[in-house]
Amino acid sequence: MKPIEIEFPEHSSEYGVLNIIEGSRDIPFSIQRVYYITGVPTDMRRGFHAHKTLQQVLVCVHGSCEVLLDDGKEKTTVLLNSPQKGLLVQGCIWREMYHFTEGAVLLVLASDFYNEEDYIRNYDDFINFLKKEGTIV
Ligand code: TYD
Repeated sequence: MKPIEIEFPEHSSEYGVLNIIEGSRDIPFSIQRVYYITGVPTDMRRGFHAHKTLQQVLVCVHGSCEVLLDDGKEKTTVLLNSPQKGLLVQGCIWREMYHFTEGAVLLVLASDFYNEEDYIRNYDDFINFLKKEGTIV
């Protein structure tokens, strides 16, 4: 699977850099929720879930981290190391985030409010969900 990366508009000057993310313009959904993850120890891994319908854009606005994406057929990893670049996660994709650098800030833009029902937190359930959907055999 090929990860979908989005480059955000930028205004750069001697005063610094300003990046913009407008819902439904710079990313393909309207933003219902924003959250951010900080203070992750370098040897810690987070995520370990997929979403049934939620769309997200992940941006490491400070520092860097890696993201593993798994669509049930293929796995790929993406290095998020720029506040200018977002990773679009659409469809039912298992994700894990790891190798956070010290002080890294992972910003997440989400297409919907928090709903635990939308989570698949078990890998076997994830594979079964994809099979039931007909995404994989
Ligand atoms: P979780 O999505 O499991 O974090 P990660 O995938 O990064 O490991 O969320 C951790 C906890 O926070 C979990 O108990 C659910 C809760 N949570 C909310 O209450 N609202 C939210 O918007 C999010 C993202 C998580």
